[in-house]
Amino acid sequence: MPHFGDFQFEIYLAGMAGQRPALPMTSVELERAAQEVMTPEAFGYVAGSAGLERTAAANLTAFDRWDIVPQMLRSVTERDLSTEVLGTVMPAPVLLAPVGVLSIAHPEAERAVARAAASVGIPMVLSTAASTALEDVAAELAATTGPDGAPGQGWFQLYWPKERAVAASLVHRAEAAGFKAIVVTLDTWLLAWRPRDLAQAYLPFLLGQGVANYFSDPAFRAGLAKPPEEDQNAAVLHWSQMFGNPGLSWTDLAWLREQTSLPILVKGVCHPVDARAAIDAGVDGIVVSNHGGRQVDGARPALACLPGVVAVCGARPVLFDSGIRGGADILKAVALGARAVLVGRPWVYGLALGGSDGVRHVLRCLLGELDLTLALTGHAKIGTVGRDVLVPAE
Ligand code: FNR
Repeated sequence: MPHFGDFQFEIYLAGMAGQRPALPMTSVELERAAQEVMTPEAFGYVAGSAGLERTAAANLTAFDRWDIVPQMLRSVTERDLSTEVLGTVMPAPVLLAPVGVLSIAHPEAERAVARAAASVGIPMVLSTAASTALEDVAAELAATTGPDGAPGQGWFQLYWPKERAVAASLVHRAEAAGFKAIVVTLDTWLLAWRPRDLAQAYLPFLLGQGVANYFSDPAFRAGLAKPPEEDQNAAVLHWSQMFGNPGLSWTDLAWLREQTSLPILVKGVCHPVDARAAIDAGVDGIVVSNHGGRQVDGARPALACLPGVVAVCGARPVLFDSGIRGGADILKAVALGARAVLVGRPWVYGLALGGSDGVRHVLRCLLGELDLTLALTGHAKIGTVGRDVLVPAE
């Protein structure tokens, strides 16, 4: 059976014919190369974070606080990285994090990402703030098969808008289109203070980007005097009043629960008290995340929050994002209790650099490194990775 780590042999064999990988092999080099090809505004939007970007930096260094202690002679020729989260079976514990406005990175935007994710077999979490209507992304996922011949899989991320009719419509559309779970992002009911965007006076939504799911939504359109195709400025203004919902509380989740039969996860939970509240509200899973440091500068690194949330969640799956940059990071998050991780910025840089092929390259690098790290630490199955593989760094 092929392993993700075999990607390295593909690269070395191509090297014998004089070829080098078209794209960089590390997240740092990906970011650097992407900066060369992206507009300053688009790069600032993707790379930037809240405030002085201390939390974004701390998200990465938090992984250095844990050391992996490999174990030997544990028969790892055959390996199985597959896992299952709320009915979605995936070949490795990795999903593409919801990232909005991908048209600023590449003209093919979410379509290219869907093809890449499906071709590798990894689920894609589609953002509400996508540049492509969710039905079109679902069609792209359905039309692309992975290594096992199965079509691509998607979850839908919900930014809960002010009007319930619009929230319900988005969720119903996602369910009808075949998305398999709803991920409600809780931490972005207001856009944070983001100096890189402020310095360039740049908010892509105001230019009509990243609003495709709203502009195509019947409930959203019902609130407009003229359709967005006739008066984009008025539609964008309506969007700006609709986007965030600071009035939400935990009790509103009961309403959302009634809107769909899909599993519901909440994303952006870092405090164990919130995790408890989410479980009491009946959610099916939790994503520990600080939005890649894009919301609260000075917030605790997400990895440091993971064990505290896992401790109160019992059997409910806890997922993790914010700071995953390599296969070893994924192993550490899994060891600390994450059922799966979501990856953000690295594949966005891949998209900017090489469209669908670029995203595929980044995913294959992450999965290849994860597979080899798993094997070299003495594990044949991802499910056997536990807290015992880590010690606090000295
Ligand atoms: C995001 N993220 C995000 N999250 C979400 O729930 N809905 C969204 O539309 C977006 N949009 C978005 C745009 C950009 C440019 C970035 C970088 C991030 C947050 C994302 O899902 C994830 O939490 C972080 O990206 C994880 O941090 P790292 O891995 O990028 O550092």
